[in-house]
Amino acid sequence: SSAQKGGYPHFMLKEIYEQPDALDRTIRPRVSDGLPFLEEDGISDSLFDGIKNITVVACGTAMHAGMVGKYVFESKLRIPVNVEIASEFRYKDPIIDKNTLTIVLSQSGETIDTLEALRLAKKKGSPVLSIVNVKGSTIARESDYVLYTHAGPEIAVASTKAYTVQISAMYLIACRYGLVKGIISEDEAREFIKNLENVRSIIEDTLKNANTIKMVANRIMISPDVFYIGRGIDYTLCLEASLKLKEISYIHSEAYAAGELKHGTIALISENVPVIAIATEKDVYSKVISNVKEVKSRGAFVILVSHDDDINDTSVCDMQIKLPEADSVFSVFATAVVLQLIAYYTSDAKGLDVDKPRNLAKSVTVE
Ligand code: G6P
Repeated sequence: SSAQKGGYPHFMLKEIYEQPDALDRTIRPRVSDGLPFLEEDGISDSLFDGIKNITVVACGTAMHAGMVGKYVFESKLRIPVNVEIASEFRYKDPIIDKNTLTIVLSQSGETIDTLEALRLAKKKGSPVLSIVNVKGSTIARESDYVLYTHAGPEIAVASTKAYTVQISAMYLIACRYGLVKGIISEDEAREFIKNLENVRSIIEDTLKNANTIKMVANRIMISPDVFYIGRGIDYTLCLEASLKLKEISYIHSEAYAAGELKHGTIALISENVPVIAIATEKDVYSKVISNVKEVKSRGAFVILVSHDDDINDTSVCDMQIKLPEADSVFSVFATAVVLQLIAYYTSDAKGLDVDKPRNLAKSVTVE
């Protein structure tokens, strides 16, 4: 009913707008005196003893949240992280042992492939820390340690708020890990946490762009194919954006690491094909822009998602969505919201059943 939807036309839109609060509920209880603190969740620092690397297992959107976490663990802490699709991991005799921390991500805590991956990790002697939204779910019960996300119930099949809170949970764990191991200083940890607490306002600012995003959706709804390109952390956001668009708008889309385009996919770029380019990382910004120019010169309709103010150059993009200023590690929250809204408005503009897309289930509990 419309009351359950809090006045929003769909659960998905309601859940997108709930993200600032969901993030607050997830982050705040784990911050004490400006530093990350997981003891009250039963996650003692001794968990990190002897850990040399991390394996993340999950499915779908949760797996994409794991990829964002990988980026932070590797770039900020230099800890190697493998992200594994649970349905692959469970059948491949994975290389893990007691020195590998397995992080399991699941909104429902009931996904069968993820649950079986967890059981296999435990059998191999790897300590398992799961990040789960549903209290008392099977994955939570079977894990050695649980960090609950507090997204609240997620009703729409396409996951939104569960994804951003999973990312925030990965960030909290990374920050605690870095602090305990002396990889980052207390000042660095404080700065990181300050930025993490600030994502609430980044998202609120981003939501003010909803009208521009609706215009983007109106443009791409008529297209049979959409491409997402980005580098580094933005590439992981492209993967999630492409999944979201496919799930609810039934438009074919692909996510490509921008530098890989020229190795094949650029053959598909022709007149008027929408390319959504994400460019939040300063280090590779000019690289993404040159990839954008390559597709633009082949006729693509380019939508640029970036911090840049002065892209009015039509040789670069046709439309731009400007993100609030932030380091790319924290910009992901803004980018995620933009990409969720693009998928949402595209599906809605096509008159589709946004909350219950065909062939999909909220939680896949049988193989
Ligand atoms: C299903 C849902 C996805 C979700 C995936 C993993 O496919 O449709 O939205 O990402 O399962 O679910 P989980 O509950 O384990 O996060």
